[in-house]
Amino acid sequence: MSPLLELRDLRKLFPVRDALGRAQGAVRAVDGVSLSVAQGEVLAIVGESGCGKSTLGRLALRLIEPDAGEVRFGGEDLRGLSAAALRARRRDMQLIFQDPFASLDPRMTVEAAIAEPLRLHKVVPRGQEAARVAEWLERVGLRADHARRWPHEFSGGQRQRIAIARALASGPKLVIGDEPVSALDVSIQAQVVNLLQGLIRDLGLTFVLISHDLAVVRHIADRVAVMYLGRIVELGPASQVFGAPKHPYTRALLAAVPGQGAKAPPLAGDVPSPMAPPTGCRFHTRCTFAEAGCREHDPALRGGSHAAACHVFEQLPPAPLARETETGGDRLRRLQAFFSADKPGAAA
Ligand SMILES: Nc1ncnc2c1ncn2[C@@H]1O[C@H](COP(=O)(O)OP(=O)(O)OP(=O)(O)O)[C@@H](O)[C@H]1O
Ligand SMILES: [Mg+2]
Repeated sequence: MSPLLELRDLRKLFPVRDALGRAQGAVRAVDGVSLSVAQGEVLAIVGESGCGKSTLGRLALRLIEPDAGEVRFGGEDLRGLSAAALRARRRDMQLIFQDPFASLDPRMTVEAAIAEPLRLHKVVPRGQEAARVAEWLERVGLRADHARRWPHEFSGGQRQRIAIARALASGPKLVIGDEPVSALDVSIQAQVVNLLQGLIRDLGLTFVLISHDLAVVRHIADRVAVMYLGRIVELGPASQVFGAPKHPYTRALLAAVPGQGAKAPPLAGDVPSPMAPPTGCRFHTRCTFAEAGCREHDPALRGGSHAAACHVFEQLPPAPLARETETGGDRLRRLQAFFSADKPGAAA
């Protein structure tokens, strides 16, 4: 089966100017990313702040234009579409933002917010909008009579539930969640993750989860793409990436999860400037395993269904994380306890 979403060698540069408007160079936010997402798959994109996760998500939905590369949705090249055709495709592609305070218009009632995409895409006849909104409110753990209220009357978790209803009500095929729970309190995060997971399963959604929270990713992703400085450095089934990470960067990221009990070397130093990424392997300046060649040659992603962009991963000692990650991490356990204890209707 052909993938629902296919990205080929995508690139996006952001020009950087000084105070006088003079060009200083460019940030290579996404720098040659190829990736496909199968129908019904949950793919997570992880990596440190600034590595290009959000830019990649926005490119995938064509909210911003790539400088180079292809975006195919259902086999169709989105670049060739007219504005009208792209608007029609919007029904199939939705984005859930991190900040539920910013993503809901304070001047719109909950009903208006959820009904807007229904109306825009003519999902239901006008007379049925209110009923559909009520249905969605209940589906996300709120009450039908919440429809008449305003966003400011709700907590962060409730607002995110409203934002989720708004994103899903038009029946999209692909949803990108850009840190959809990061702004919420940890106890509420678990409930909202649980809600999302249930909806993904029930609706058969294809979901791209952008998150720096590895506990959340581990809980819901089928596959994981690890990004570093605009590139994918590891890509594979979640169980393998977490259980037997190949790339030294992934190992270090996992080691940084508190309580993980990992023996992998932690990440040293800051991420280099994305305006001038290191030569050769971009990770070599922070890699404890780097060899001379890593400074010169840019590694390709290799290794089949669980791939890494690293010259030396075969020679590394077995990842010391494999057993610990299966149970490990205080935070992970706390989250898991929440997931299993989630009660329907106990909306945060
Ligand atoms: N509109 C923009 N103009 C200029 N630079 C940008 C713009 N958007 C992103 N960048 C830069 O591109 C790089 C990648 O940013 P991006 O937001 O995609 O990272 P991210 O992985 O989502 O980070 P975070 O985890 O903090 O959300 C960063 O260096 C960022 O500063
Ligand atoms: Mg981001």
